[in-house]
Amino acid sequence: MTQVSRPRRFITRRSPIHGNGVFAISAIARGEHIIQYKGKLLIQAEADELYGDGGETGHTFLFTLNDDYVIDANQQGNSARWINHGCTPNCRAVVEESAGGDRRRDKVMIEAIRAIKPGEELTYDYGIVLEVPHTTRLKKLWICRCGSPQCTGTLLKPKR
Ligand SMILES: C[S@@+](CC[C@H](N)C(=O)[O-])C[C@H]1O[C@@H](n2cnc3c(N)ncnc32)[C@H](O)[C@@H]1O
Ligand SMILES: [Zn+2]
Repeated sequence: MTQVSRPRRFITRRSPIHGNGVFAISAIARGEHIIQYKGKLLIQAEADELYGDGGETGHTFLFTLNDDYVIDANQQGNSARWINHGCTPNCRAVVEESAGGDRRRDKVMIEAIRAIKPGEELTYDYGIVLEVPHTTRLKKLWICRCGSPQCTGTLLKPKR
């Protein structure tokens, strides 16, 4: 069978938003599946034990997969862990539930929500909800530097 190879769509490099970011190097169409967010599956208590509840540092490689599991991209992670948050993002993170209902098999896919040009940084809305008081100190830790005119100034969503 002939394999059709696709051009590489993104690279990881330093970002004006924060640390490393992921940038398109070829055109990405709206709706394209770009990369799966990979990492080791943890239960929330294990993640809290390893990294705290979010009040200690504003840096995370964790992704809440569902009510039972968190994906820890510090372990077994891939390039998706370098994608920064944006308040007017060009991507979204979609949880694909496993057909058999096994929550360990749910997956997170990063998809383009609009056409993305080469050179653009990929971003999605992290949608982080921290169930701890949003103190001044905490707000400072989670400050948003996405640069969008519509930036909310924070990576945190209002508490439920
Ligand atoms: C999954 S990592 C993304 C990669 C990160 N740039 C790095 O080099 O480690 C998530 C962390 O990156 C930082 N980050 C992501 N988006 C940001 C933004 N819009 N403004 C400020 N910091 C951001 C925060 O520290 C956040 O907890
Ligand atoms: Zn922002």
